[in-house]
Formats: sequence, structure tokens, C-alpha cells
Amino acid sequence: MRIDILTLFPEVFDGYFGASIIGRASAAGIVDIRYTNFRDFTSDKHRSVDDKPFGGGPGMVMMCSPVFEAVESVRQEAESGESGEELILLTPQGERFSQPMAESFASRDRLILICGHYEGFDDRIREGLQPREVSIGDYVLSGGESAAMVLVDAVVRLLPGALGHEESTADESFSHGLLEYPQYTRPREFRGMTVPDVLVSGHHAEVEAWRRRQALERTKCRRPDLLSGEAERSTR
Ligand code: ADE
Repeated sequence: MRIDILTLFPEVFDGYFGASIIGRASAAGIVDIRYTNFRDFTSDKHRSVDDKPFGGGPGMVMMCSPVFEAVESVRQEAESGESGEELILLTPQGERFSQPMAESFASRDRLILICGHYEGFDDRIREGLQPREVSIGDYVLSGGESAAMVLVDAVVRLLPGALGHEESTADESFSHGLLEYPQYTRPREFRGMTVPDVLVSGHHAEVEAWRRRQALERTKCRRPDLLSGEAERSTR
């Protein structure tokens, strides 16, 4: 998968994307993450990417031209055989990001992410480019970069080979519409707290049943909104 990140601050991605799962997936050629700076698509001597809003008001607004030109420039680099790009605008006004959305993005060959800054975008960016607008939650960040990191992390770890062990995304929170069951590792006792006996019993079926019950209990208690009739029935 190729991911293009369009941003005014490409350097902020280096540390996180150079390490751990995303760093390994990049080194293995599973994902190719590239950065494009909107400032490279300006024509005035100050390399302006923003301006005051028409009608007045505080703050600055991202201008159309650097954003349109940056998108057009990376689109020209499309590989032949690419089946479908998704153009994504990170904004608190977008559709809420979720695990199903991450799964759908993971099936694409190419993602192009537009990270905004300042008070917002000239609305003709929405009108003219028709991106999918995505929010990572109901709070306002100072820019789209941290939201892009969250999105890319959730997508890349789903790509085949990224985790090194294919089953590991199957059981985790949200993948069956439930939160994940509690996990333990050695030692069996730590500061008086013990590991549930069933997990060391060696009874596979009982372990499975315990995990299903725990996942359901946790979800009921912490995130009852996730419980559809379907999820409840399948764990009874
Ligand atoms: N940019 C600023 N806040 C954001 C949010 N909550 N999600 C996505 N992009 C953003």
C-alpha cells in the first residue's frame, strides 16, 4: 500500500513511523509512506499557504491552490494497476473513525491524507476535491497530523504481514464488535494478584468460553453502546 501524507509538517511523522510495527512494515515494503509539503506548491515569495477569512473573524484559513496542486501532484505518481485510491481529509467535522473504516481503508492500494492547520480549510477544497472527511473524535486538535498518525497506525497494522502473526488482529477489541478479554502473562502471582485458574488449566474449550464471557462482560460494563443483539446472541 502507498500512503501519501500532505502536510505542512512532514518532520513530525519521523519518530513514530520509523519505529515499531510501522517502521518494520515500511522496511519490509508492506507500506510506502511518502510526504508532500503544501509549501512546495506556493508561488509567492512568502510561500503562503493560508490567508485571512473573507467576512472577517479570527485565525487563518488554508488556501485552495497549494492543497489542490499537492493532491494533483501525488495523483500523477499513481502506479499502474492501482485499484482505487481513497482521498481523506482529517477534520473534526468528519465521519467518526472506527475499526470498520480502518478495515475498509486497509483494502485500498493507496491512501492520500490531507492534514490541515490553522482555523480550517477554504470550503472549496471540500467542494472541488470531494475527499472523505474523517474525524478521530469529538475534540479539536491543533492540526490533522496527529489524527493522520492514528489513522495510519490503525490501517497499517491490518495489512497482511505487518504484525508477523496473522491471527493477532482477529481477536482484539472491536474486531467482533466486543472489547477484548483480559490477558495475563508470567508470573502467575504478582503482589497478591493471581491469574484466573482456567487460563492455566490446559482446557482449550473452557478457556475459549471464559474469554467469550469476559469479553461480553467487559463490553456490557464499559461500552454498552457496542452491544448489538447480534453480538449478544453469539456469545450466549
Ligand atoms: N483536526 C483537528 N481536530 C481533528 C480531529 N478531531 N480529527 C481529525 N482531524 C482533526
